[in-house]
Amino acid sequence: MSELDRTQQGAHPVPADWTYAPAPESREIVRIQERYGHFVGGSWLEAAETYETIAPRDEEPLAQIGQGTAEDVDTAVAAAREAFANGWSALPGSERAKYLFRIARILQERSREFAVLESLNGGKPIKESRDVDLPLAAAHFFYYAGWADKLEYAFPNRTPRPVGVAGQIIPWNFPLLMLAWKIAPALACGNTVVLKPAETTPLTALLFCDVLRQAELPPGVVNIVTGDGRTGAALVEHPDVDKVAFTGSTEVGKAIQRRLAGTGKKLTLELGGKAANIVFDDAALDQAVEGIVNGIYFNQGHVCCAGSRLLVQESIYEPLVDKLKRRLTTLRVGDPLDKNTDVGAINSRMQLEKIEELVAAGKEEGAEIYQPPCVLPEKGYWFAPTVFTNVAQSYRIAQEEIFGPVLSVLTFRTPEEAVEKANNTPYGLSAGVWTEKGSRILWMAQRLRAGVVWANTFNRFDPTSPFGGYKESGFGREGGLHGLEPYLRFDE
Ligand code: NAI
Ligand code: MG
Repeated sequence: MSELDRTQQGAHPVPADWTYAPAPESREIVRIQERYGHFVGGSWLEAAETYETIAPRDEEPLAQIGQGTAEDVDTAVAAAREAFANGWSALPGSERAKYLFRIARILQERSREFAVLESLNGGKPIKESRDVDLPLAAAHFFYYAGWADKLEYAFPNRTPRPVGVAGQIIPWNFPLLMLAWKIAPALACGNTVVLKPAETTPLTALLFCDVLRQAELPPGVVNIVTGDGRTGAALVEHPDVDKVAFTGSTEVGKAIQRRLAGTGKKLTLELGGKAANIVFDDAALDQAVEGIVNGIYFNQGHVCCAGSRLLVQESIYEPLVDKLKRRLTTLRVGDPLDKNTDVGAINSRMQLEKIEELVAAGKEEGAEIYQPPCVLPEKGYWFAPTVFTNVAQSYRIAQEEIFGPVLSVLTFRTPEEAVEKANNTPYGLSAGVWTEKGSRILWMAQRLRAGVVWANTFNRFDPTSPFGGYKESGFGREGGLHGLEPYLRFDE
């Protein structure tokens, strides 16, 4: 008799309590060094000054990381320039593709190791690093490997050439995935790279250097310099960097743009967001609830395109909010390395404080807060999934990017009002529309001022699909054919 038959015949009572037994992923697979330098010209450059990187789940110290100086950046840019001039830029595209394919395959082979390290250093649930970050990072390398020898077909009647040395600065919310978004198109187009990971999450970028060694990528084609904003600023300001690609806060993005004005350096900026997730009264409500949850609680809400403003058509406001609150009680908050965890640790103390400040402002301004009962671990950085109702458009929680597991619910009556409210933000990175009517999806998509509009889904990514912002969410596109353009010039 099968297990299912026995259960149905009452041999096993149906459990009354659906608590989960712990299912921790072993971290044995990962070896972390005590101390790391910078990866320059294919070998390790000793760091004069270091800082400690920790695990946000319990503040456990993990390693000493180099705080890159302007001199380190200069050495890395020189290595990248040399690699560019001495072969890489002149390699046939099919040869460059070989390295990218190798990197993609090695990432797949070592995906468990990378997923564990990503969750340990960044706090995101292993379920997400394993099923989203790692497969997508590998997919980006596979995808751009495919373009490397087809650039002339991508831009017919033009002559695409590499730009030179790319300086790339990435954030902490998708450390390895953002590295892949930056490095894969740059290399496919024949550029060389100096990349600076975020200060709180350097470990997967440092492990990636071992992948480069395995793939036998020529020295200097990819260089990794760690450190905080000062290291990033030195990279932006370096005179021999031809192109800057930045993902992070709007504030730093603006400073970089000011800094580069008039220098002739190419620039792409992928900045903040305050996306509207819009639910019409004809939407499939249970599906919409899943999309709302995925839109804002995925990766603890540390997502630039998170659906942080829920716009609900008035007639379904009550049933939808009821369903949403009920669904929130089933989210499991806890150890990022537990395979059952839905919501992991907040990335850093600084980010936790920012979330706490904005949530306090929401209460102060008069919004109504709901948090499901959940026990948060004592050590580390944690914040319970949160919903605010009774939110006015003028409240800070409806205006500012919180970058945490906090949703603000607003209502609308007509599609016109939904569009107006959705677009009432300085940002424009993404939006979601939930409705049964195809014609309404198209009508909305034409009017929403956002780089990506998801219909009856949210937070879907694919390397073939361009991603980027309007307004203060930045400019330039990453992914797809469009993602090649920032790494090419067409002037001769
Ligand atoms: P940030 O913009 O300061 O950091 C992002 C990256 O830029 C890091 O690698 C950092 O070291 C580097 N950086 C900082 N200052 C720099 C400078 N002057 N020149 C060059 N590079 C510099 O973001 P932060 O402080 O970590 O987070 C603040 C807020 O920004 C978050 O609460 C969130 O709202 C937003 N943010 C948005 C992200 C996105 O994906 N769009 C990612 C990270 C943060
Ligand atoms: Mg900052």
